[in-house]
Amino acid sequence: MKAKFIIVEGLDRAGKSSQCELLVKELSKSGPVELLKFPDRTTAVGKMIDAYLQSKSDLNDQAIHLLFSANRWEAVEDIKSKLNSGVTLVVDRFSYSGAAFSAAKGLDLGWCKHPDVGLPEPDKVIFLDVSEEVAMQRGGYGNERYEKLEFQRKVRSIFQQLREPNWAWINADESVENVHQRIVQALGV
Ligand code: TMP
Ligand code: MG
Repeated sequence: MKAKFIIVEGLDRAGKSSQCELLVKELSKSGPVELLKFPDRTTAVGKMIDAYLQSKSDLNDQAIHLLFSANRWEAVEDIKSKLNSGVTLVVDRFSYSGAAFSAAKGLDLGWCKHPDVGLPEPDKVIFLDVSEEVAMQRGGYGNERYEKLEFQRKVRSIFQQLREPNWAWINADESVENVHQRIVQALGV
């Protein structure tokens, strides 16, 4: 199997982390595969993002937007070298989250997309669409900055605008196993 760049997107509480893990397990049956997650909170830039998300620091909307983008750019050599050496990548959030969460604050969508121009393009985007009711049943949102119902609603509507033909829009309200099966079907593996 040729290495693929697969991005998993969704609102908070959509089940991305569990689904990414299951997908990596499934794909590893047919070749090398690794999981990446953004923001990567372990880098210097990632630590600034983490402090912002936990409201331990404040930054203006443009500045935090550019840090999220920088956090992807600092991984670009690693991403490219893995793909070139045949490793499929499953990525928990990427440029679409970058655009959707910042544009939901009222920033211009075109401006939000721009800093990510030139980053690797995905072969497939899996969007996990969770309803508000199920997100709440899953324990509701946590304490991080964007985890508010009204804001998540706006983010979802921007994700809808970003949707392209290579997206699989998957109902994430179902059981973990059913959602996993739908993802596997969408990827044709
Ligand atoms: P996480 O819950 O997946 O760790 O992501 C943390 C939050 O950051 C989540 O609410 C989505 C948001 N986010 C952005 O605002 N811009 C980005 O570029 C990314 C990757 C995430
Ligand atoms: Mg979160």
